[in-house]
Amino acid sequence: MRVLAICGSLQQKSGNLELLRIAAAGAPERVEFLLFDGIRRLPLFNPDLDGEDAPAAVRDWRKVLLACDAILVASPEYGHSLSGALKNAIDWTIPSGELYGKTVAITAAVAAPERGRLGLQALRVTLQAAGSVIVGGEPIVRGPNFKIETHALLRKLVERANATPE
Ligand SMILES: Cc1cc2nc3c(=O)[nH]c(=O)nc-3n(C[C@H](O)[C@H](O)[C@H](O)COP(=O)(O)O)c2cc1C
Repeated sequence: MRVLAICGSLQQKSGNLELLRIAAAGAPERVEFLLFDGIRRLPLFNPDLDGEDAPAAVRDWRKVLLACDAILVASPEYGHSLSGALKNAIDWTIPSGELYGKTVAITAAVAAPERGRLGLQALRVTLQAAGSVIVGGEPIVRGPNFKIETHALLRKLVERANATPE
């Protein structure tokens, strides 16, 4: 099983990126875990740019999505919504359908349990529009249970993806 990890934060020092690295370190042996950093290269979604000569960054993004069996997303909340970079990346898949039927686990690395929930709600709505099967949806607090909860979410994603025919 190939799991693609996507971080909604573009910051170098990112709690969400740290979460994905922790997930990678705890991935079961049969899981190939690939951290994809290419959403920062995507142009702003514009149907005029789409088609056979779509930008290389868009073609790469669609290719890695097609090649994976499941996706783990960790994203910050900005302005009570999902990160703009992540929304833009998802928008690029709407005309072409790579997220349709794909199992996607979502979470946010947060400083306190009440943080990040509106961002996750918005992310859920957007992924539902793209046709994804969503797993999880709770923020994970950066504290003593960070690693345990992150590994548990990855396990749940793998189980669900195994049980869900695409
Ligand atoms: C401009 C801006 C807006 C933010 N808006 C929210 C928000 O609406 N709700 C929230 O819980 N956190 C908000 N945050 C906090 C970020 O979600 C938090 O810093 C997060 O850890 C950033 O993710 P990262 O560490 O992966 O880069 C905001 C941060 C910034 C810089």
